[in-house]
Amino acid sequence: MIYDRFQQEAIDHIKSGHSVIVSAPTGAGKTVIAEHVINDCLATGKRVVYTAPIKALSNQKYRDFQAQYADKVGILTGDVSINAHAPVLIMTTEIFRNKILTESSGLEEYSWIIFDEIHYIDDFERGTVWEECLIFLPDHMKMLALSATIPNIDEFAEWIHSIHGKELKVIKEEKRPVPLHFFYQCEGMIFDNVHKLRELGYSGKKEYFYRRGKRFTRYKHLKPNRLDKLINHLQASDKLPCIYFAFGRKRCEYLADEMRGFDFLDKREKGQITKMFSSLCARFDLDNEKSAYLLLPLIERGIAYHHAGMLPTLKEVIERLFTSRLLKVIFTTETFALGINMPARTVVFDELRKFYGRYFANLKTRDFYQMAGRAGRRGIDKEGFVYSRVNLNYISLEELKRIIFSDPEKVRSRFNASYATLINLYERYGDDLYEIYPRSFHHYQEKSKSQKRALDSMRSKVDILKELGYLDENGPTEKGTFASKIYGYELSMSEMYQAGILEGLSETELATLALALVYEPRKGQTKTAISKKARHLKALTDEIISMIHRKEKHARVLPLSKDYRFHLSACIEAWMDNESFDKILSHTDADEGELIRYFRMAVQIFREVLDTPASPDLKNKIRKTISLINRGVVDAENQLRIQ
Ligand SMILES: Nc1ncnc2c1ncn2[C@@H]1O[C@H](COP(=O)(O)OP(=O)(O)OP(=O)(O)O)[C@@H](O)[C@H]1O
Ligand SMILES: [Mg+2]
Repeated sequence: MIYDRFQQEAIDHIKSGHSVIVSAPTGAGKTVIAEHVINDCLATGKRVVYTAPIKALSNQKYRDFQAQYADKVGILTGDVSINAHAPVLIMTTEIFRNKILTESSGLEEYSWIIFDEIHYIDDFERGTVWEECLIFLPDHMKMLALSATIPNIDEFAEWIHSIHGKELKVIKEEKRPVPLHFFYQCEGMIFDNVHKLRELGYSGKKEYFYRRGKRFTRYKHLKPNRLDKLINHLQASDKLPCIYFAFGRKRCEYLADEMRGFDFLDKREKGQITKMFSSLCARFDLDNEKSAYLLLPLIERGIAYHHAGMLPTLKEVIERLFTSRLLKVIFTTETFALGINMPARTVVFDELRKFYGRYFANLKTRDFYQMAGRAGRRGIDKEGFVYSRVNLNYISLEELKRIIFSDPEKVRSRFNASYATLINLYERYGDDLYEIYPRSFHHYQEKSKSQKRALDSMRSKVDILKELGYLDENGPTEKGTFASKIYGYELSMSEMYQAGILEGLSETELATLALALVYEPRKGQTKTAISKKARHLKALTDEIISMIHRKEKHARVLPLSKDYRFHLSACIEAWMDNESFDKILSHTDADEGELIRYFRMAVQIFREVLDTPASPDLKNKIRKTISLINRGVVDAENQLRIQ
């Protein structure tokens, strides 16, 4: 492979011993630079950590790297731990952060850290994790940071320089290796540029109406944008395969079902894909899964869907089919766009809006390009095609142009240190821990008012920790040490521990409790009746969580500690009773994939408890609980071991 200019430049800097940050579009080829670091480390007997923002991506990288580096690779993600002392160690960013905040982390021998998708520092909920990693990055580690295009990359690098005193070389690549061409389906027609869209689409008849004294405009007589027309057009103009992004699980399945009239495969291809599908299903133990069986009639015709509500194993099967190029249209949610190398010729946007945590909003430019960048396969396509489906009454032309043609948003700090982080810092710095704040990207970037707010929030949390007996003048107490291991659920879990409640619970009750802790109902999810056995647990947790919330509200700490939710109690009880996965689904309207994700999160919390000063008796019980939850489809490690 001949390196591109930006790849060569980055590699040259790495060779001369510098840390490097690279900002380049989706699919530009950032992985090659990471591989250079890895090869170099292996050749010279050094060790390297690689972090990815989500578990699915860590797993994917583990598979990729394993193919190249065999037993030199290991992975640690909280629910998977394989070859944990390998010279090339993949982990989630959370695990890396937790390691650098504890003493004797085992990182002394690792001389490089690679952060993939570092623009996640802007993630509202999790961004603080990247920021904490960078603030506390051990001196002996060099860093390679890979990012989607961000306009304020220089500011970012200057901040790192200001806190570590080491230069960070910045490499920018603006160009996509395969250029993108934009199209619009609007008013039942297809336009190949935005001028025509304005003249022939946004020129329709409008009507006005008033609500609460305000004037609103609405387009009249809209014509439908038909899916079959769009797909026919793509097929006729030789633009398949296509990744169709829709923002909702049900919507993906609905659209796939709408494709009844389409069949993209000839007889030979049908033979190939069904054979491949059935052998993959056998390998991933999906033979008796209804959801796999339901997909078959689609797959035979070159169609599939892929979203977080599906079984993780089934998702993996679909990904492998997609890589084989026999799937021509895949309906998927955003997760398909992140980091995994699965390009297509064309990308379609069902709409230019998505759900941002708590509300629907028009796409950010950065998110649009994360997905749009999947169009155009390097070495196969001369250009990639991006189609947006436009309903005039849902998106204005100005917004559409903003999304597609403006610069991606700057990354902003989301610094908000968790209780666990603060406990770890208190252990090291005592009451001087606030001196950490001026080292943050937040401090570097924000005005004094917002700086003060951030500092106040740190103080409030520390005050709560002191008041509730997590910290005293000697440092963290036993409860504090316990809490410092339980990221994200510090107070709610530790209060239960301290009250001696955990010791008295059975394995099933422990599992029910952990599941209630991690579970977050989705909008519209029906509340299934709490099982009889779990009612006394709810009484206990209600009392504890309302005490915690009282303190947090009083101190104005946001967000509040997560409430316990027992929607899945019947499910987990049945699962602990060795019931089959299929059967336990009847106790809930949560999706299969969602259920597995929560079960795995519960396992992760229990693994964290094993790392605390809890008694050997409790730990034994917890080990048993883990082994009861972590079986069959829930066992992530098992999935990863399947070749
Ligand atoms: N110099 C090169 N010449 C030809 N192909 C290349 C080159 N560099 C990378 N590629 C190919 O480009 C594709 C995309 O690369 P990669 O996955 O590294 O992109 P990325 O920048 O990490 O994108 P993302 O933002 O999605 O993570 C891969 O198939 C890779 O093999
Ligand atoms: Mg990448």
